[in-house]
Amino acid sequence: PQDVVELVESHVREVEDFPAPGVLFRDITPLIADPVAFASLIEILADRYRGKVDAVAGLESRGFILGAPLAVALGVGMVTVRKAGRLPGPVVGIDYDLEYGSARMELQPFTVKDGDRVLVIDDVLATGGTADAAFQLIEAAGGVADTLCVLLELVDLGGRGRLHDRTVDSVLTY
Ligand code: PRP
Ligand code: MG
Repeated sequence: PQDVVELVESHVREVEDFPAPGVLFRDITPLIADPVAFASLIEILADRYRGKVDAVAGLESRGFILGAPLAVALGVGMVTVRKAGRLPGPVVGIDYDLEYGSARMELQPFTVKDGDRVLVIDDVLATGGTADAAFQLIEAAGGVADTLCVLLELVDLGGRGRLHDRTVDSVLTY
């Protein structure tokens, strides 16, 4: 997988001062636009989790891009953890703090079967607020969620510490 990791890394674009001055944004659009890099990434992730999970939960919105093909590759269903107000009820929801302000994520509990092992996937782990909310929602719905898979982990933002009791698998760390 090391050659795949290098291929993936070479397709992540660094953009200075986006979305705000002083921020170095890591753009994954070149990666998902490249059929070989994208398919190779999904393949190494599928190899890692095959037989170990019953569902994949993608976090809106960029987590959907990675979660859906991974779910299909694993032969399991795809669960969507969405921003507030997007899903018809019944939903469970949780508010969480962002660096500035707050946000809310929601999940339809009927999409998670009791006791299902649910792999949480997103593009980026930053402060961990989004992923922490997802873990709580999946557990509230009766699922078992102990692992987060991300493409990029921004180490300085401390997300791994916030998710201390979970496993974090990141493909690339910065
Ligand atoms: C970004 C990123 C992760 C989250 C990470 O999503 O895609 O989901 O932030 O941040 P955290 O670890 O501090 O919670 P964003 O809210 O920008 O939305 P998007 O995926 O819809 O672009
Ligand atoms: Mg996101």
